[in-house]
Amino acid sequence: MKIKMRYCGSTSDWGLHSKIGKPRVFPKNYSARCTKTLWKCAPPPKITSKPISTTLSMELKSSVKFDPETFDRLQKRIKDLSTTKKALFTNPTYASPIPTEVDIQLTYACNLRCKMCYQWNDDGYFHSYNKEIQNKEIAVDIFQKILQETHPAKSRLYLWGGEPLYHTKWDEIADLLEKDKRYTVMCTNGILLEKRMESLLKISDNLALLVSIDGLGEVNDALRGKKTFEKLIKQVKLVLEEQKNGNYKGTVSVNVVLNDELVPHLYEFVEYFEDLGIDSIYFNYPWFISTERAELMDRFYAENFAHHDSTPSHSVASWHSYSFKLSPQSAEVLNEQIFKLNSRVWKLRVRFQQQLEANEINDFILDTYVPKKKCYALSNRIEVLADGKVGTCSKFFPELSIGDLNSHSLLEIWNSGKFNYLRNILSKGLMPVCSKCVLLYRNGI
Ligand SMILES: C[S@@+](CC[C@H](N)C(=O)[O-])C[C@H]1O[C@@H](n2cnc3c(N)ncnc32)[C@H](O)[C@@H]1O
Ligand code: SF4
Repeated sequence: MKIKMRYCGSTSDWGLHSKIGKPRVFPKNYSARCTKTLWKCAPPPKITSKPISTTLSMELKSSVKFDPETFDRLQKRIKDLSTTKKALFTNPTYASPIPTEVDIQLTYACNLRCKMCYQWNDDGYFHSYNKEIQNKEIAVDIFQKILQETHPAKSRLYLWGGEPLYHTKWDEIADLLEKDKRYTVMCTNGILLEKRMESLLKISDNLALLVSIDGLGEVNDALRGKKTFEKLIKQVKLVLEEQKNGNYKGTVSVNVVLNDELVPHLYEFVEYFEDLGIDSIYFNYPWFISTERAELMDRFYAENFAHHDSTPSHSVASWHSYSFKLSPQSAEVLNEQIFKLNSRVWKLRVRFQQQLEANEINDFILDTYVPKKKCYALSNRIEVLADGKVGTCSKFFPELSIGDLNSHSLLEIWNSGKFNYLRNILSKGLMPVCSKCVLLYRNGI
């Protein structure tokens, strides 16, 4: 095998920003930062002076090695995306035979009321649902049906909510996952980890826990509520203790929404979680949708989905709820922090989602950023909401759901005319709300 050497600086399991085309073969014990463009990574270049801001690496250096399972998953993902890219050339509505990733919102309900949350903060669209809908959670038999239908592809799962561990029948869901093992990422606020520990240990072989923490101490608490940091760290330490004892076999990572109070302290934040023994940190830009863009989306929706029969049960569309943002002043501080973070190799992986160039951050923060991208998510992933509604961009925007698992099978919806209609529309150009979407950056080019 020919091995090329060049430093790439990439860190992430999710990092499919590599050129899609040829699936890559990764040697065992291969450095985590080698997945971006090359087969083997040379040592990082010595930093002798402050880099020009546009070339600042948004992926930090990490000494973490990928294990064989992670390599396999990465290879499979690259292969899937490569197949999709080729197929879309001739067929704009191409869909893989079975979705390779299923995103399931286990419940709308949540035990916190975070200030930045587009679901449950004061502007959050969940407030416009009636009480019955607010408490909806996925029925266990629907969860089972999803597993059965996607079993042949062993589709990956992404569980979230509301708060996924707040599902009143979580233990039954975990039992199903124990029987039909899937690689499962679960994004949780972490408050119930101890309470759910027994079931989590049972499925931990295939579990990647993503605990949401938005700063150290009071910085986190200002968004997530009084004393949540203290509670969360206690819970995270319990899982790490179980991991050390060999009982918890999955990974524990931290998901962060960047905020003005945290940005000046990113370095300390990463140091803290490195010391704690966390696997990865994912820094997310707040998903801010300006009023102008939300109004553009209202028009786009009226023009393209006027005939849509899954009329949302709330009066103002969900895209008007994405009001939390970083201040423009944070862009410069963020650059400085990233420069500082780049000055050393970390014992954990750190990734910024979305992967922006340094000179794009300002536009992204102000919501004036225009990505020239195609999204592949519609060909590979499906999203199920807590009430059984299904779509591909409905995870964030329920208005875009196009089927219901209470009346149809997952594959019927996946291959339906409505799904193809959505694929067709998006093949002509992205929607106004797409510019910030994490999925676009993971499943787009
Ligand atoms: C909506 S929550 C649901 C899962 C769970 N309740 C939690 O907090 O992790 C999923 C993720 O979205 C993040 N999030 C909330 N509001 C956001 C915003 N305005 N922009 C970007 N991410 C946000 C949360 O921090 C969390 O990591
Ligand atoms: S815990 Fe998650 S779902 Fe609940 S309010 Fe906070 S971000 Fe939103």
